[in-house]
Amino acid sequence: MATVGDLLTSGTARLRASGSESARLDAELLLGWVIGAERTALIAHPEAPVGADAAAAYESAVARREAGEPVAYIRGVKEFYGLAFAVDARALIPRPETELLVVEAEHEAAWRLLCAPRPPGTPPLRIVDVGTGSGAVAVALAVVLRKRRMLPEVSVLAADVSADALDLARENAVGHAVADEIAFAQADLLPDGAPVFDLVLANLPYIPSGDIAGLPVAASFEPRLALDGGPDGLGLLRRLLAVLPSALAPEGTALLEIGFDQGPAVETLVAALGEDWSCLIREDLSHNPRVAHVERAAAGAARAAFPGDY
Ligand SMILES: C[S@@+](CC[C@H](N)C(=O)[O-])C[C@H]1O[C@@H](n2cnc3c(N)ncnc32)[C@H](O)[C@@H]1O
Repeated sequence: MATVGDLLTSGTARLRASGSESARLDAELLLGWVIGAERTALIAHPEAPVGADAAAAYESAVARREAGEPVAYIRGVKEFYGLAFAVDARALIPRPETELLVVEAEHEAAWRLLCAPRPPGTPPLRIVDVGTGSGAVAVALAVVLRKRRMLPEVSVLAADVSADALDLARENAVGHAVADEIAFAQADLLPDGAPVFDLVLANLPYIPSGDIAGLPVAASFEPRLALDGGPDGLGLLRRLLAVLPSALAPEGTALLEIGFDQGPAVETLVAALGEDWSCLIREDLSHNPRVAHVERAAAGAARAAFPGDY
């Protein structure tokens, strides 16, 4: 009978030969998934025997990975913001750099709910996640706001043009017990007749069409609709920025994920909205420009008037 160590060695060699840059990690994740064990247990017990059925399932998983399929799609799960999200070919696999969007959204929501004046009768904070995909941003934010007991004061809308992605987002909302707190809408950017929003969050596709063919093969398993940002990558961001003046409340903020090299272009697009608009770009943990904060200058002034620890 094969052991954990045997299977990891053979799987790693095959995946390395197929071009995976994380062959050992991939093999550990796939074997751990098949036998229901943590990676640490695999590493601690290489001598443990693996039954024939599990070895066959591992063989099939390694073959899928050899063909380029992302480990997350094979396992059907991806961790994002410390939460397990169901993932499959209906939507983009959430990326770690997008966690910054959730961090910034939490800060923006917390500042508005805890530091700014909210007289009785103030309506809930309206938040929209445009291009929600698997629901990663909307669901993670709802979970964190629930932990902070802020959820009753917030209304979250998750929108996507893809009905398939919305189905997956709903499933993830159910999985994290926030389905009743999130509304879902199929829409090209924002639904017609939507109210103004206090926070507009978006990780829309921003890869230039011509760069898609050069992406790692794993990306070819993801929906093109989730990747392709048009000829210069900015097509959808440009369209969303154009509707912000009517979609964003006067003191609202839009948090837009951007490509590492798109900061100057996005600043130019925001400047074209008028002098009363500002754009501040925050870096991710790799020090790449990642999230553009776009708002009217009045919103920044309001924040400065009520600083606080939130
Ligand atoms: C880069 S993926 C991001 C998914 C998810 N927000 C995340 O961060 O993992 C972009 C998403 O935008 C959606 N999308 C593309 N064009 C859109 C449009 N015109 N209106 C709304 N959503 C769109 C895609 O279907 C996809 O789910």
